Amino acid sequence: MVIVIVGGQWGDEGKGKLVDFLAQQADMVIRAQGGNNAGHTVVTEHGEFKFQLIPSGILHSHVTCVIGNGVVADPRVLIREIEQLRERGVEPQNLIISERAHLVMSYHPLLDKLEEESRGDDRLGTTWRGIGPAYADKIRRIGFRIGDLQKQVFMRKKLDFVVGKVKNPTLQRLYTEEAFDNDHMVEEYLGYAQVLDPYIRDTFPIIHDALDRGANILLEGAQSTMLDLDFGSYPYVTSSNCTAGGACTGSGIPPTRINKTVVVCKGYTTRVGYGPFPTELLNHVGDAIRERGNEFGTVTGRPRRVGWFDGAVARYAVRVNGATSVALTKLDVLDEMPDVQICVGYDFRGEFHDHPMANISHLKHCEPRYERMPGWEAPIGDCRSWEDLPANCRAYVERVEELCRAPIEMIGVGPRRDQFVVRGRRPYFN
Ligand code: IMP
Repeated sequence: MVIVIVGGQWGDEGKGKLVDFLAQQADMVIRAQGGNNAGHTVVTEHGEFKFQLIPSGILHSHVTCVIGNGVVADPRVLIREIEQLRERGVEPQNLIISERAHLVMSYHPLLDKLEEESRGDDRLGTTWRGIGPAYADKIRRIGFRIGDLQKQVFMRKKLDFVVGKVKNPTLQRLYTEEAFDNDHMVEEYLGYAQVLDPYIRDTFPIIHDALDRGANILLEGAQSTMLDLDFGSYPYVTSSNCTAGGACTGSGIPPTRINKTVVVCKGYTTRVGYGPFPTELLNHVGDAIRERGNEFGTVTGRPRRVGWFDGAVARYAVRVNGATSVALTKLDVLDEMPDVQICVGYDFRGEFHDHPMANISHLKHCEPRYERMPGWEAPIGDCRSWEDLPANCRAYVERVEELCRAPIEMIGVGPRRDQFVVRGRRPYFN
């Protein structure tokens, strides 16, 4: 069985925790897109772990963790994550990296930063991790793949062209930056090759053999539907397809083999970076949710923008991804609210819209239409069944479910691995 986990908002919905929870029943966890712009936090009895590239399933020794072909991986970050795991007693022996995955090269973060700075007021608020420039090079066919690390002569020749003819002229003429030294880069990348070599594989037969055996496979999405290159709030998006389609192209698993798609949404909404956010709360309510939900970026530490639950965004995510269910996370963050609001759609120039408009200027200037509901004003962290949840909390979840038009099968009630209310069938893989 194959389950896809994708974000239904603007990222940071708690996908890592859900993947970690479901990984208990999985044989394989695959990251299919994004890079170290993602930050997934998992809290276990051994403390807190933060992952940027390594799939969150790595804490389960029986799970094969795959960095798929759709990922762009910065080798420096990947090596640091491997080392950090080792320092904490976790040997990532089940980690494999697709030789088709692309490398974030050392010039990519620099170009990301320079490009952002030169946009001035129109900057996107990227993470400066070089993600956009790395994907752009993939599409321009001047990217380096992880497998290239194993080909010394090829690497040197290609660096001569890419660095000598494309990157250095851009850096020097457009930005008056210093040139990269090809010889130094060859040495540097050969060093990375030595460390990463044991993990590099053609993941295609490994994944397809697992499919043929009927293995339980989880596809761990990074970023989210509203950050998707095609369906998000372009240009305030990331540079990959973070929707369910991207999970297929980024892993080589065909759409016909996907059994379930879980869209993960927080019980409220957050976003990092710039761009339209109709339900944003620029007041003390937003501040309270930010503090209680610890809404500060895992990667950059930036305070996240916070707002009410947006039913139009969630329903859009359910439709774009073909969600079979929704997981509603961090609901406990709303425990102390005397009342809660849900956006059901937007009013713009006399018309009602029940989904986010493609035109981001309309999305920026629309008026969200809200429904107000009484809060539950009780801690839900110890609830483990639907019946345990306070009546007002259940009413809120039911209204969200109606708006999403997909069953809410999991509810996150706290940061720990076990803090879930599961409404759907158990075990989840069946
Ligand atoms: P980039 O992916 O670094 O190019 O950033 C593009 C946009 O996506 C920015 O608004 C980032 O804040 C946002 N973004 C990228 N990755 C994540 C994530 O994992 N969570 C939330 N926002 C993200």
